[in-house]
Amino acid sequence: MTEKADWEKFFDGHAPVYMDNCFTKNTVNEVDFLVGELRLKPGATILDVGCGTGRHSIELARRGFTVTGVDLSSGMLAEARKSAKKARVSVTWMQANAASMQIDQQFDAVICLCEGAFGLLGREDDALEQPLAILNGVARALKPGARCLFTVLNGYRMARQHSQADVEHNTFDPLTLSEVSDVSIPGVTSAMRERAFVPTELRLLFRTAGLNVLHIWGGTAGDWRRGQINLDEYEIMVVAEKKRRKRPSRIRSG
Ligand SMILES: C[S@@+](CC[C@H](N)C(=O)[O-])C[C@H]1O[C@@H](n2cnc3c(N)ncnc32)[C@H](O)[C@@H]1O
Repeated sequence: MTEKADWEKFFDGHAPVYMDNCFTKNTVNEVDFLVGELRLKPGATILDVGCGTGRHSIELARRGFTVTGVDLSSGMLAEARKSAKKARVSVTWMQANAASMQIDQQFDAVICLCEGAFGLLGREDDALEQPLAILNGVARALKPGARCLFTVLNGYRMARQHSQADVEHNTFDPLTLSEVSDVSIPGVTSAMRERAFVPTELRLLFRTAGLNVLHIWGGTAGDWRRGQINLDEYEIMVVAEKKRRKRPSRIRSG
């Protein structure tokens, strides 16, 4: 059996109390926002990447959408299954790493919220290749012209929060915009790597994966809005659309 990844161990341990976090308390409003921004039609299919305890998946299923939730952590998925049962909704749950997920279906929308995989780096992950692998998977899982919505750590905030001493102590890496912090929960003490992003690189990464960025807004949990980024807010939001296939140009004969 292969050893569990650090984030998997962390979220397995954190799962029973995840829903106590204050940033999980605005799910219904967030789903209202998603329905509008992703232009979800009745019965649309949605993939929730890094779905965690399934709070968005379950609320979307409650509204009649067909939802698949993917997560690395069996502990988080176990909580999601319990909540779905309690809410009497059906969601397809899958345990997989978002950077290597094999999903043979195309969806009407993909969500990846609150750093659902994107920006949570494993010890050996490359800071560019891992997010790009996630975006390539998301692009494969979207129908042409369909939208995705991500909330990711804000690189401006992360840089402004750290000092040169943090660079010298290797707790902040300005080359990869990532921070390393010691996390201790029962059974896990580990140095976790979290990666933040700035809008220009997000545009480039998304475009490389075949996703056109439509908007980059402020998007900290509890304060999602169609408005400017605040340099010191925790997260930013990306709304993107999968490029449509180009129609073959007509060849005129004669
Ligand atoms: C902060 S939680 C966010 C959960 C949910 N999206 C929400 O908004 O509440 C991050 C989730 O991402 C999952 N995760 C972390 N790395 C992942 C990966 N490489 N692939 C899939 N899921 C991952 C974790 O297990 C955790 O459930």
